[in-house]
Amino acid sequence: MKKLAIIGASGHGKVVADIAEKNGYTDIVFLDDFSTGNCAGYPIIGTSSLISKLTECSFIIAIGNAKIREKFQLQLEDKSIATLIHPNAVISRRVHIAEGTVVMAGAIINSDVSIGRGCIINTGSSVDHDCIVGDYVHVSVGAHVAGTVAIGSYTWIGAGATIVNNISITNDTMIGAGAVVVKDCRESGTYIGIPAKKERYENINFSEQ
Ligand SMILES: CC(C)(COP(=O)(O)OP(=O)(O)OC[C@H]1O[C@@H](n2cnc3c(N)ncnc32)[C@H](O)[C@@H]1OP(=O)(O)O)[C@@H](O)C(=O)NCCC(=O)NCCS
Repeated sequence: MKKLAIIGASGHGKVVADIAEKNGYTDIVFLDDFSTGNCAGYPIIGTSSLISKLTECSFIIAIGNAKIREKFQLQLEDKSIATLIHPNAVISRRVHIAEGTVVMAGAIINSDVSIGRGCIINTGSSVDHDCIVGDYVHVSVGAHVAGTVAIGSYTWIGAGATIVNNISITNDTMIGAGAVVVKDCRESGTYIGIPAKKERYENINFSEQ
């Protein structure tokens, strides 16, 4: 019996549970600090305070906020942290994916890519050849990252955004939904539009999902 505790009973958590099932986990539970009941038919057995009590169990964090994802992943250092890849993702044999990362259905990751810890490579997104994706990055649904792009840790590429090839995006950066990034994003912040430009005001909302 493969047992998995998913931290974060959210919409994102439901998708993660589906992928876990497809990866052969037969005993799936959720931990959540704010919700009770069940999530996608799986029981929410308690809060994150149960982490230390659960044995013979792997963990995955299903929380959209990159910094909170990191906080929990650091708490799990002496535990087994899963890496979940949907069977309908297409991943080159020359890809390194670090622990705690989830790759959703329809995602494509091409040759010579490195994906960091605790990332989300979301539904139908793509990361092309020779990219380096830092820790706790989220490539949202339908976003496309062309070849030889470097994405710094905690950065969130919004839904449907496009990053052209040979670009560097620094840490802690939000690329808005639908943006097209054609120049390096050297300063942390929010970039939106076509071509993507840094927003005048800073109001990064990393707290969805
Ligand atoms: C960029 C983003 C973070 C801005 O969020 P925010 O700071 O809460 O901004 P607001 O919604 O208050 O919008 C502020 C202004 O920016 C505009 N704006 C917001 N997002 C935009 C985007 N992606 N592209 C272009 N303009 C955008 C709004 O229309 C608004 O313009 P106005 O002042 O003329 O009315 C957010 O809109 C976004 O794109 N998030 C990505 C979400 C996502 O991809 N989720 C995927 C989950 S898988």
